[in-house]
Amino acid sequence: MNPSISDETLQLILSKIDINDVIGEYVHLKKSGKNYLGLCPFHAEKTPSFSVHVEKQFYRCFGCGAAGNAVSFLMDIEGYSFPQAVQVLGEKVGINLHVPASSNTETQQKNEEKDVVLKAHHLAAQLFHHVLMERTEGIKAREYLEQRGFRLETLKEFQIGYAPDSWDFLVNFLEKRNYPLSIMEKGGLIAKSENEKFFDRFRNRVIFPIWDTQGNVIAFGGRMLGDGQPKYLNSPESLIFRKNKQLFNFHHARQEIRKQQTTILLEGYVDVISAWQAGVSNVTATMGTSLSDEQARMIRRNSEQVILCFDGDQAGIEGVSRAAEVLEKQGLLIKVAMLPSGSDPDDYIRKFGAAAFRKQIIGEVRSYPSFKLEVLKRGRNLQDEGERMRYIREALTVISRLPHAVERDHYLRSIAEEFSLSLDALKQEQLQIYRSEKKKEGRDKDPGNRNNIVRNEKQFKIKQLYPAYHNAERIVIAYMLRDKEVSDWLELKVGSQFNIDEHSALAAYLYAYYAEGHSPDVHLFLSKLQDQELIQLAAELSLMNINPKPSEKELEDYVSQILSYPVLREIEQKEEERRIAERQGDVLQAALIATEIIKMKQRMKS
Ligand code: UTP
Ligand code: MN
Repeated sequence: MNPSISDETLQLILSKIDINDVIGEYVHLKKSGKNYLGLCPFHAEKTPSFSVHVEKQFYRCFGCGAAGNAVSFLMDIEGYSFPQAVQVLGEKVGINLHVPASSNTETQQKNEEKDVVLKAHHLAAQLFHHVLMERTEGIKAREYLEQRGFRLETLKEFQIGYAPDSWDFLVNFLEKRNYPLSIMEKGGLIAKSENEKFFDRFRNRVIFPIWDTQGNVIAFGGRMLGDGQPKYLNSPESLIFRKNKQLFNFHHARQEIRKQQTTILLEGYVDVISAWQAGVSNVTATMGTSLSDEQARMIRRNSEQVILCFDGDQAGIEGVSRAAEVLEKQGLLIKVAMLPSGSDPDDYIRKFGAAAFRKQIIGEVRSYPSFKLEVLKRGRNLQDEGERMRYIREALTVISRLPHAVERDHYLRSIAEEFSLSLDALKQEQLQIYRSEKKKEGRDKDPGNRNNIVRNEKQFKIKQLYPAYHNAERIVIAYMLRDKEVSDWLELKVGSQFNIDEHSALAAYLYAYYAEGHSPDVHLFLSKLQDQELIQLAAELSLMNINPKPSEKELEDYVSQILSYPVLREIEQKEEERRIAERQGDVLQAALIATEIIKMKQRMKS
């Protein structure tokens, strides 16, 4: 252990800290009995399996196995070292530990440089803001911003500034205050010419400060006053700024994001600021790059849902798909707010006003699959039978890729209704498409990986993380493979109600296998299966590392995970319908749905 922190100090801090407060800053926790439950911040999931035990002051995730106390939580989530984590906790309860940032002089020097660079950014932001608001050099920029609809209070709120048209305005300012220019250059604040002369990076540009989550200015985005290239000039990556780890305006929006459990992701700085002016404040954006896993995790730690609102043109549509792919991995619920083609949120707000933006765009979100189905319709004449059929086939391909039977059913029904088709026929067609896609996938896979079950099992342990209900299904099937009694019991309790189709199929084969009088024998069982996929899956599950004998309580927990999952999803959908009804002012309908939701929740408990 670190010599500078004694056991007594650590115990004292831990006794004063409430783990709930610490974790609550990152995870939205709901009370559940004596403990608290939330979505695990360490792996992607859609149903909560992360629980915080108040009495014992520790957390545990049933999905990925993460577990520990307040210290390990901070170390994992913030990447702190042990002493750093203890120090942060100490500060929360008023115990000051003077932990040296690092004993290593090189990192210590780096930390000192960081501090200076941060201070300089703070000052520079104030300076640029002052120039914009007060100085004659700033008049042109003020006019430009005014003409773009920026209000005075907004300029202040976002500390927007102006960098004058000069090569040494900031350089001189920093030099006078004894800021070492070479460090300023390393920090991305100024630039250096080939003949080693320092000069201002931002010249004649409107300045948008970029803050980190703690509210420190760590970079700037500078926009030209008119047309020209490059339109935006951003600070380079530096010792304080990593584009992929930051989100524009996040520190500012975070509270509202957590309150609404929804993050609205836009494309540009001006879009964020415009939306904020329009009264929508849970908004953020990347720095013009595509969304990174790290940024998606940041969003996930603070909200359950994300709304993508990009330009309605082709590039915007592609942007939505790219971002959605990254967000989906984190288990975020994805919604899309559709803008007309060729306008970004800022254009839309200026054309149609704030109220229209709130109601018609943010208020009318659709699910991500329904967005994809809508996009498929673009540029198609659905009156034409041939085109209509092509559309339906493509739509069925989209539906085939949805992971949940309930979801697939939902969209199949809506297509059946929209085109007056038989639901059964659509279902059959969809299943066929699903099978042929799977085959294609199989063919594309590296043949060396095929049938190498042991290797697959190893990979599975490292890489694959499933939501809790999915894991529960895998584990009970693993038990069923080894134990006839468990299988009989599951047949009674769950029957065919597994949420994953392959699991349902395996269970059915297992029930039949034992009914024929066989005793547990994986090889014999595998020989009865025809489907290569099922064989592979059963083999994988038979190798799973599980307790030799499950307790009844354990099994019961798994069963309740499995059975409550579809109800949870249904409740989620109803909640959405209720919100829509509320937004449309249909109070009666909203109340009816609310009653239904209560009934469903009661049914789930019993
Ligand atoms: P856009 O080109 O969509 O600009 O770039 P915008 O946000 O609508 O800006 P205005 O309304 O013309 O002022 C979206 C984002 O991409 C990054 C910026 O982060 C910008 O907000 N970008 C764009 C750059 O970094 N450099 C550029 O030259 C252009
Ligand atoms: Mn714009």
